[in-house]
Amino acid sequence: MKKLIGIILSAVMVMSLAACGGASQGTAQPGILVMATNAEFPPYEYHEGSRIVGIDAEIAAAIAEKMGCELVIEDIAFDSIIPEVVSAKADMGMAGMTVTEDRMQNVDFSTTYAVARQVVIVAEGSGITSLADLEGRVIGVQQGTTGDIYATDEFGDDFIERYSKGMEAVQALVQGKIDAVIIDNEPARVFVSENPGLIILDEAYADEEYAIAVRKGNTALLEAINNALEELKNDGTLDEIVSRYISTE
Ligand code: ARG
Repeated sequence: MKKLIGIILSAVMVMSLAACGGASQGTAQPGILVMATNAEFPPYEYHEGSRIVGIDAEIAAAIAEKMGCELVIEDIAFDSIIPEVVSAKADMGMAGMTVTEDRMQNVDFSTTYAVARQVVIVAEGSGITSLADLEGRVIGVQQGTTGDIYATDEFGDDFIERYSKGMEAVQALVQGKIDAVIIDNEPARVFVSENPGLIILDEAYADEEYAIAVRKGNTALLEAINNALEELKNDGTLDEIVSRYISTE
């Protein structure tokens, strides 16, 4: 009996190891879980000295630990994350990434781990007080984000300025080069708190949910991630991580 349990346990170990990088069959190495992100997105992922920290970085570390994998975080352009996952250069994409129908054509998503909103940042006293006031204004976004995709759809290319980082869009707004920034609510709160004279409109632009992207058909990894997420939700780890980065006044 003991022997049997031993065999089963080692089989489980091998399976969970295989679900790290090995399952991607790409350049990623076995035992290593490569996460592609864009660390320009506080409080989800950002640089603190030479380290990448934030809610996503910590949830990913907890998932990797549960899977018995070593986590390696790759910091790349946001719109390169899905291509890296598709080409198996990364095992998973985790970047406050919104689940959308279009993205689901290219990757599979885990269960969601956060709800979010696209919000509008404007300069105080700009006269823009609602979404309707955005008509004919120049809107800054981070390239390839849902803010970019939705706003381009609605207002047209001519009215959208794309930046590689959300913070660069916010700086352009501060300098009066653009009229508004559409970005996720939590980064918006961080950027507004760091730049006096900016406000966030009460009216949200879109509601969304974040999840982890894996290569299509990589069910071993997807299941391992979903199981780990479920455990982290149930044992309170997820809430604990979030509460260290987001104050709920
Ligand atoms: N939630 C938005 C999206 O999925 C923006 C995410 C940007 N994330 C980042 N790490 N820069 O498009």
